[in-house]
Parts: sequence; structure tokens; C-alpha cells
Amino acid sequence: MKKFVIRGGRALRGEVSVSGSKNAALPILLAALSVFGTSVISGVPKIGDTEVALELLRDLGATVTRQGDTVRINTDSAAFCVPSCEAVAKIRASTYLIGASLARFGEAHILKFGGCGFCERPIDLHIYAAKALGARVEGERMCTDGLRGGEINFRVPSVGATINALIMAASAVGESVIRGYAREPHVLSLIDFLVSAGAKISLTEHEIRVTGSHLSSGVAQIRGDMIEAGSYLAAAVMTGGELTVTGAPRGELSAYLDFLAALGAAPACRGDRVSLGRIKSPRYTTLTAAPYPAYPTDLQPIAAPMLAALAGGKITDTVWESRFGYLDALESFGIRSHKFHSGAEIYPSKIIPATVTSPDLRGGMACVLSALAADGESVIYAADTVLRGYESIEEKLRAVGADIRVVD
Ligand code: UD1
Repeated sequence: MKKFVIRGGRALRGEVSVSGSKNAALPILLAALSVFGTSVISGVPKIGDTEVALELLRDLGATVTRQGDTVRINTDSAAFCVPSCEAVAKIRASTYLIGASLARFGEAHILKFGGCGFCERPIDLHIYAAKALGARVEGERMCTDGLRGGEINFRVPSVGATINALIMAASAVGESVIRGYAREPHVLSLIDFLVSAGAKISLTEHEIRVTGSHLSSGVAQIRGDMIEAGSYLAAAVMTGGELTVTGAPRGELSAYLDFLAALGAAPACRGDRVSLGRIKSPRYTTLTAAPYPAYPTDLQPIAAPMLAALAGGKITDTVWESRFGYLDALESFGIRSHKFHSGAEIYPSKIIPATVTSPDLRGGMACVLSALAADGESVIYAADTVLRGYESIEEKLRAVGADIRVVD
């Protein structure tokens, strides 16, 4: 396990370029298993999660090559096997193997899927979608004699279940209708990829219609990572510096930029560049994380240290009501808070150095942000949880003046 050693209290200044979106890349990489021939995916970030996804594809017989940020996946020799439990347990995106493996091989296994353990993360909707398209469940094994189009009505807009439904419907015989779907930008990126491989997909506000096809040779260009962009903008706020993030998907950041403006910041946007300077008159601010296009749940742990460093505020999360365990780690940095059902009050606090263990990916980034603000040396153990989602974080932050090291 690695650790971050950070000497904080330095104002960060300069430009940080944003890598490809983790949450857009992972569904497309795993969906490529259901696509015949070679798929070419550009803009794939080199982070822990994508490396595990590529390892899973290789285990299933795909030939995977990477050149820079472009990944080529050839599935001509793909063959079913039960994937490595160890790899599956490392990333949440391994749930997409349910759809991809059923689509490609007619068989999949329900395993102990990994990812951040900030909440109970059910998969009943993924299984419901598979059954709706003709899969059977026999204990841990799922199988089908061939997926066929069907009707799927989700009771909540699950990103993961929508992605699995799309992957399966795109290879099924006939037409499927998916209602109550999640409309996060990474769902739309997956749709573009499946269309490039031959699926026919149309979208209205209420439903997605998919006509399945024999998929082959998909292409995708992964967009900039909204959460990474938001995290580096938060680093500017935390250190009283001035940062410009480049390659930012500005449209996706709308709710976050509104939040920064409510805090008292004046983000300046030009094309894919967003700049942010010191906040002079901070304001008490409330935010509610909810499905897209509302404020994203993945950026709610990133908001907490900013609220503490400024005038305080209140966070509510309607997607993951108990996603507030990270506040225990932030307490070591002097961040005072009070949790309540589905939210927390964050009090203005003096941020001090601390030695903590990163609780999970975004909670760990909240610790990094706190350490950047605290005068003195902080140590954050379990840095790997953060490296799962932030490409070259050490290099990127050092280049704008941070004193941060990743130590084995
Ligand atoms: C969610 C986020 C996603 C984020 C990810 C990691 C939303 C809508 N989704 O995606 O943007 O990247 O967390 O932080 O913001 N649910 C069920 N049964 C299921 C699946 C989900 O009841 O089978 C419920 C969950 O308990 C949760 C909600 O649906 O309350 C949304 O979950 P879902 O979108 O599936 O989570 P992720 O795909 O992991």
C-alpha cells in the first residue's frame, strides 16, 4: 500500500490538464467485450481502475494493447471463464461484466463486486434488467439461450443498471425499451460507443429505445473527467491559489460551477478551460447531490473541506444517503461536522495537518485537499484508493506548486 506525504499551506498556481473520465471509460472498456473485431478507445486514463478493467478483459481472452491513451481491444479469441475474484473485487465497474458477458457468451457470474464501500450498493436492478432481456439466474450463475429485446422500467435511475441494460439490449435480438434510466454523461458516452459498433439507439426524455445488432469494431473518444476537474478547482479554493483546469467538460460541471459561485468564487470559463482564484468573501452554502444534471454525488466529499475552510454549509446526498463516513477522516484535519440522516452540517474550521487512512476514492481526495490546505506535514495512508481514479496526481499537483509525494 502506498501513502501520500503532503506538506501543505502553499498556494497552488498554474494549469492542470484533466485526463479522460474514469466513469466514461470503464463502461466502454467492459462493453467492448460484447463487440466483435477490434474496438479503439482513445482518451483512456491510466489509473488503477482502468488497469484492472483491462486485466479482466485479458482474463476473458481479449487481446488488449495500449499506446499512450489509446486502447485497442480485439475480442476474436474471447472465451467465457469465471473472472478472477480478486480483480472483480477491486472495482465497481466489474458489475458491467454481467451485461457484457451475458451479451457475448450467454453466461455471467454474480460475484463480490468491488468499488468504494461508502454504502450498501445493491445490484437487484442489474439482475432485473438481465432477466427482462431473457437471462435466468441459477444461484450465482446467470445464463441465457440468447438475449432478446424487452421492456425495462427502473424504479430509481441507477447508472450501473442503465449501463448493463444498454450493453445487453445492444446485442439482443429485437427492440428493448428502457425507462427510468440514468442520464449521466457517461451513460450517453456508452450509447455513442454502442451506436458506433452497430446498435440502433434513440433517446427521449422518458425512454431509451435500443435495437440490438451483431456489434463490431466500436470507436470512442473519452471526454475529460468532470470529477477530476472539480477536484483540482477545489485545490485552488483550499490553498487560496489560482488554477486553470484544461480539458474540462464544462457542460457537465454546470451544477458544480453554480456551487462554487454560491461559495463566493468567480469561475471564469473559456472553451474547455476553467480558471478559479482565491475566494475573498465566502458565504455559507448548501448543496444537494442528486442524479444528473444536479450536483454529482462524487463531488460531495470534495465540497466538505471547502465548506470547512470557508464559511461552512450543509450537504445532503439523495443518491447515497450515508456517504458521509469520510467526515471521520476529515475530523483529524480539524474539520468539524455533524452528520444527520442523508446529510451533514459542516462548520467553519481551522484545518491542521493529520495522519489518516484514506476511506475511499473521493473521501481520500477530500483528505488530500485538506492536507494541501494545512500548514505542516500530513500523511494519508491507503493512497491507492485515490490513485484508482486520479491519473498522475502527484506530477500534476507538483507542477502547480504542491509539495506532495507518493511513497511506497
Ligand atoms: C453512482 C452515481 C454515479 C457515481 C457512482 C460512484 C448517480 C445517479 N449515480 O453510480 O454518478 O459515479 O455512484 O459514486 O449519481 N440502486 C438500487 N439497486 C441497484 C442499483 C442501484 O437500489 O441495483 C440504487 C442505489 O442504492 C443508489 C441509486 O440506485 O441509491 C443509484 O445507484 P447507481 O446509480 O446504480 O450507482 P452507481 O452506478 O454506482
